[in-house]
Amino acid sequence: MTTRRHALHTLALASAAAALMALSAPAGAQSQKLKVGLMLPYTGTFAALGNAIENGFRLHVTELGGKIAGREVEFFKVDDESDPSKATDNVNKLVKRDNVDVLIGTVHSGVAMAMAKVAKDTGTILIVPNAGADAVTGPMCAPNIFRSSFSNWQPGYAMGEVVAKKGHKKVVTITWKYAAGDESVKGFKEAFEKGGGQVTKELSLPFPNVEFQALLTEIAAAKPDAVYTFFAGGGAVKFVKDYAAAGLKKSIPLYGAGFITDGTLEAQGDAAAGLLTTLHYADSLNPPRDNAFRLAYAKTYKLQPDVYAVQGYDAAQMLAIGLNATKGDVSKKAEFAAALQKAKIDSPRGAFTMSKSHNPVQDMYLREVVGKENKLVSVASKGLTDPARGCKL
Ligand code: BEZ
Repeated sequence: MTTRRHALHTLALASAAAALMALSAPAGAQSQKLKVGLMLPYTGTFAALGNAIENGFRLHVTELGGKIAGREVEFFKVDDESDPSKATDNVNKLVKRDNVDVLIGTVHSGVAMAMAKVAKDTGTILIVPNAGADAVTGPMCAPNIFRSSFSNWQPGYAMGEVVAKKGHKKVVTITWKYAAGDESVKGFKEAFEKGGGQVTKELSLPFPNVEFQALLTEIAAAKPDAVYTFFAGGGAVKFVKDYAAAGLKKSIPLYGAGFITDGTLEAQGDAAAGLLTTLHYADSLNPPRDNAFRLAYAKTYKLQPDVYAVQGYDAAQMLAIGLNATKGDVSKKAEFAAALQKAKIDSPRGAFTMSKSHNPVQDMYLREVVGKENKLVSVASKGLTDPARGCKL
């Protein structure tokens, strides 16, 4: 009898404790930490880009009090080294070993395509905060894959229009031989040739090589009206310096996708002065939204932001928009996508929307290097939408 009474008493205590716990703790996975997997380059020619993206992302999470949709954010990081051959293993470290809820990455187009494949196969939400690989929002597009940056086609196409309007007829292109370089040149060529120009030679070298001398000699011999280029990070610094040192800057104007001068001007010095580029960000846009972002970024990191920081910041904004709609539930992919599809993302670059294939519809700015800034010259292309060839969403 005593034993039975004791058992009943214990049971009553246990149910009271359970009821109390149910009252004090929110139910389900939404009460758990939000595991965010950052796959970015922290070494190699794109290391500074990866750091700027992480800084921008963390800045917005801090503005949100460290939580997204009520869930405390916990970071898991992998250095992808911008190496496509290690990409599948690297992304699986985050998805299978760390069990992340969402993936944020990366910079290099070849690595991003491997990430997109894993995201598609596992249904993990992926937001790409840089890599422009056309395929990610083209043939590989998926309900759970989004981009906060650009497609490689976009800045290239905008610059093709600018260079054609300037009246240049014959252009040589030079880039790294991989998806980003190839697609940037393709976008440029599409608009430039539509505008009456001709790309007479397409020069390239393997990523991330920086032995430009032989190619610069070829450019000098070809004597085109102008040169179009895609390089970024450490490679962009060296290319701009080598182009000037070879004496080409004085005789053959150099144009580029804006990555050639973004986040690189301190290191490039006078060699970059006056260069014209197209990109979805500039240093002198001056709306209150951008001014507030720039101030907060400079205060937090003692650094000036660049396009990569903006893309990281906007990846966090996009994640918050999607997860607020699902009350923090990452399994509700359709609601997540629907919220982003109708959102106007209040970016420091200027507000943008998502195309049906989940790529930003955004203005492309023509910028000129003045001192240590990519100064706004004009809007080269208003609300430019990637053609998303091959996307079946
Ligand atoms: C890319 O690989 O897609 C890329 C890398 C750096 C800057 C822009 C694009």
